[in-house]
Amino acid sequence: MKTGPQTYHVKSFGCQMNVYDGDRMAELMSAQGMTPAADAKDADLVILNTCHIRERATDKVYSDIGRLRKHGRKPMIAVAGCVAQAEGAEIIRRAKVDVVVGPQAYHNLPALVASAAQGQPAIDTDMPVDMKFGHLPPRRRVPPSAFLTVQEGCDKFCTYCVVPYTRGAEVSRPFAQIIDEAKALVDAGAREITLLGQNVNAWGDESIDDNRGLHDLIAALDQIEGLARIRYMTSHPNDMADGLITAHRDVAKLMPFLHLPVQSGSDRILKAMNRSHSRDSYLRLLDRVRDARPDIALSGDFIVGFPGETEADFTETLRLVDVVGYAQAYSFKYSPRPGTPAATMADQIAPEVMDERLQRLQAAINRHQAAFNAASVGKTCDVLLERKGKLDGQLIGKSPWLQSIHLLSDAAIGDLVSVRIAEAGANSVAGVTA
Ligand code: 5AD
Ligand code: SF4
Repeated sequence: MKTGPQTYHVKSFGCQMNVYDGDRMAELMSAQGMTPAADAKDADLVILNTCHIRERATDKVYSDIGRLRKHGRKPMIAVAGCVAQAEGAEIIRRAKVDVVVGPQAYHNLPALVASAAQGQPAIDTDMPVDMKFGHLPPRRRVPPSAFLTVQEGCDKFCTYCVVPYTRGAEVSRPFAQIIDEAKALVDAGAREITLLGQNVNAWGDESIDDNRGLHDLIAALDQIEGLARIRYMTSHPNDMADGLITAHRDVAKLMPFLHLPVQSGSDRILKAMNRSHSRDSYLRLLDRVRDARPDIALSGDFIVGFPGETEADFTETLRLVDVVGYAQAYSFKYSPRPGTPAATMADQIAPEVMDERLQRLQAAINRHQAAFNAASVGKTCDVLLERKGKLDGQLIGKSPWLQSIHLLSDAAIGDLVSVRIAEAGANSVAGVTA
């Protein structure tokens, strides 16, 4: 009888939710008695935890598989994540991998790996309604700033986006399960928890109360002793409930940071994207958030080159960036995703036009980020120390506004220290212990 793999390595791509899933897969394999290998080339089992959101993700997975098999090595290969969900059995046919497992089914990895160890390729891309989380082992090694997935999937169906197809419909984890996991994270050393979800502010627990929303979860986390900071992402403008906005005023542990993607500043494009909000409704929403929490740092996501985007549409996006003054933001070239409505829309934009627009947008975003950092010089704030820096005695942590702050300090990783921001750079700021 063949024996199963003894060592494993997880390689995660894509968003924070995927990174979180990758960590949970690692814990799951460790709980089976397997040992983690720092490098894929030393592992008996390699789990590729893939992302499907943009650009040739599928091609990348196939070339990664090829690389893993170089020099005659034959590790067991499991493809997980959103490419696994989208491609399914095709990956086994084309690349002869051992396991294919979707993002909602990875709690079954041990059984799939056991089956593959017997020489039988195994696949599970089911999307069960009862979520996998109840089937996963407890968290073990936990960083000072930990992630906790509370919601998955999306019912919004923006016309460019593959998430409703790969991650499935919106599902929320039950309240009590989340609070238990949060307490366990804090007991294991977390000082900050970021609640994760594709539409995190759509979180609800209807078994308790139809109106129970993310702000109720935040209020409960606020009561956990030892937890110093709460964050959440990613939000949709249409799910920004009043209670969540006022939580930014009332809950001191809730950090003054909001990642609220808008994608475009043009109403015409927003409509074609099926965003179901307008430029103006987005701006009015931000006004209300700023009323509640005047120092809030704003972040967003943008897509350039959506089908039909004219120079005038794009200028509206640039103007929106200037009006909002983001502390940071992400911008992407539109990438047609097979199976989404936008992929077959007329008037796809030429790559060189997209490149040029992306450069201009990124220059505007960088300008605002530098201005935000410069304006924070002289402020004193708490910094959660997360890791060592490159220099001797240097530590790196985050400000309440999610700026990366480096400082010289003999405090310990996981400490919250009071810091005066002394100098601003483009992507980070320097602090001195206050
Ligand atoms: N092309 C480019 N960017 C995309 N995003 C989602 N789908 C696409 C796509 N097809 C971006 C959006 C989203 C972020 C997670 O990825 O900006 O907010
Ligand atoms: Fe995350 Fe979306 Fe990529 Fe899936 S497709 S890993 S949900 S970013």
